[in-house]
Amino acid sequence: MNPLLAKLQPYPFERLRALFAGVTPSAAHRPISLGIGEPRHPTPPFIQDSMLGALSGLAVYPATGGEPRLREACAGWLQRRYGLTLDPTRQVLPVNGSREALFAFAQAVIDPTRDAVVVCPNPFYQIYEGAALLAGATPWYAPSDPARNFAVDWDRVPPEVWARTQLVYVCSPGNPTGAVMPLEEWAKIFALSDRYGFTIASDECYSEIYFRDEPPLGGLEAATRLGRTGFERLVAFTSLSKRSNVPGLRSGFVAGDAAILQKFLLYRTYHGSAMSPVVQAASVAAWNDEAHVVDNRTLYRQKFAEVTPLLARVMDVRLPDAGFYLWAGVAGSDESFARDLLAQYNVTVLPGSYLARESQGLNPGAGRIRMALVADTAECLEAAQRIVQFVQSRKSTP
Ligand SMILES: Cc1ncc(COP(=O)(O)O)c(C=O)c1O
Repeated sequence: MNPLLAKLQPYPFERLRALFAGVTPSAAHRPISLGIGEPRHPTPPFIQDSMLGALSGLAVYPATGGEPRLREACAGWLQRRYGLTLDPTRQVLPVNGSREALFAFAQAVIDPTRDAVVVCPNPFYQIYEGAALLAGATPWYAPSDPARNFAVDWDRVPPEVWARTQLVYVCSPGNPTGAVMPLEEWAKIFALSDRYGFTIASDECYSEIYFRDEPPLGGLEAATRLGRTGFERLVAFTSLSKRSNVPGLRSGFVAGDAAILQKFLLYRTYHGSAMSPVVQAASVAAWNDEAHVVDNRTLYRQKFAEVTPLLARVMDVRLPDAGFYLWAGVAGSDESFARDLLAQYNVTVLPGSYLARESQGLNPGAGRIRMALVADTAECLEAAQRIVQFVQSRKSTP
């Protein structure tokens, strides 16, 4: 077997299962999970219906590059959302969800013969780490700074690490922090990329769920504003899963540096990553419609407006810039918090330390929990009320 497989870390949910083994959840409460970050608002019926009209496509092998109308729909969305004009044939490529693409990208980009490093935020989406390890690179974890709205502290990466860095994962809006990267941060990371020659993979799968008036700045948008119109060494990853409530569809796209995408397409042709024509039809329909996205965002906004103030009474939490998580500070161990909460109130949350790694003596997820507000408002509110009771009862217990 490939020895690099042995380097993969257990997924956070495996660790959660181990933590909860032997815990008997309170029988007085029905179970509520804020653990898994999977969208649970209903899929718009028009997306489901568009699949039925495309079933005849099952009779042919799809091209890895996708149908022109899908690439055009993706480019059209980039134009409407960010005011960007991209060439759909060279600068846009459909992918089967951003997860597979984020993983595959490292396999295509990394040269493992040159002592490669992949820099990623800490805490982070675990696929970045697995992608780096299986590509033969060493991950380096750049901590997010709670004092600066959880912005990633790129200055903590030593110059000798940057010198070996071939790929940087950026996650904006961030999972789990919800932080959106401002233009100055982009300018910094572009300058580093120019200096050290690394590629930037910009994971933007939460870009359509936001709480400020202004929509999150995208990586390609930032590049354009800074005069980098060719998107040198920059590829953005986006997805329909959260935007359109279709995590089961497995559909997204990548866009940016045409020379990199040409090589990525070559890689994907061998890997067999073509998208089903049925999924392509549904994706065209979804990218071309914005009304359902606005409705979806409204649901999240209402939910977060009700739940966040309740929790802020008992823990260090506030409305994030974007995304569907609350990233809250709890007193003491995040693991004990999660275990005791399950035992006493039957609510599942994810310990923050499972979403981060210890680096330079610090695990930036320790003492925090991630709560995914993906269920309906009533259920999230009930969970929040139980958490308030739980924290208050802990405080009163000596
Ligand atoms: C930060 C981040 N990136 C990417 C993904 C993958 O999403 P998908 O493969 O559904 O596009 C997720 C899923 O939870 C995520 O949290």
